[in-house]
Amino acid sequence: MSPHPEPAQLLVDYLPLLPKGKALDVAMGKGRNALFLASHGFEVVGLERDEEAIEICRSDAEKQGLHLEIRRVDLEDLASYRIEVSAYDIVICFYYLQRNLIPQMKEALKQGGVILYETFLIDQHLKAGHPRHREYCFEYNELLQNFLDFRVLFYHEGQDTKGTYKAGIVAQKPV
Ligand SMILES: C[S@@+](CC[C@H](N)C(=O)[O-])C[C@H]1O[C@@H](n2cnc3c(N)ncnc32)[C@H](O)[C@@H]1O
Repeated sequence: MSPHPEPAQLLVDYLPLLPKGKALDVAMGKGRNALFLASHGFEVVGLERDEEAIEICRSDAEKQGLHLEIRRVDLEDLASYRIEVSAYDIVICFYYLQRNLIPQMKEALKQGGVILYETFLIDQHLKAGHPRHREYCFEYNELLQNFLDFRVLFYHEGQDTKGTYKAGIVAQKPV
């Protein structure tokens, strides 16, 4: 991966349509999407477990003169960390799948807030062998099923232009 990876295309495409304000990046990694949102005026909170990734993000933020709040958390330890309820205008999650966290991610949105979620589809495991574990991929229609109580603005399953099988959604919490 290059030192300054590009933000996710889905996020770039939907940026003009997103409600401005507070954004949560779940499992932000080195922060390619969190930094992109911060550079467009969002007040960003990023959650991440890996110290090295956090340091890279902090350093990039400093170089770019951007501010974001980074919380080092283990999202699997649900007993010690809970995402705030009705606190965010947008929630994003790219290439991280923890099924029991999805209800918290939905609750974290304010009414009218928008979630963008994209990660591997089961075909990526079955046909490419990566991710190695099936549970890290969405089954067919699974991502969609999780958001049927939201207004679905965009949904896609299948190969992208690079041949990666993925599922992606943009969905709005009802007002
Ligand atoms: C494939 S990366 C995706 C990073 C980022 N969302 C992106 O699209 O560039 C997955 C990230 O999830 C983080 N992660 C994995 N398990 C985690 C956990 N239990 N709590 C917090 N972060 C975790 C990893 O450290 C890694 O940075």
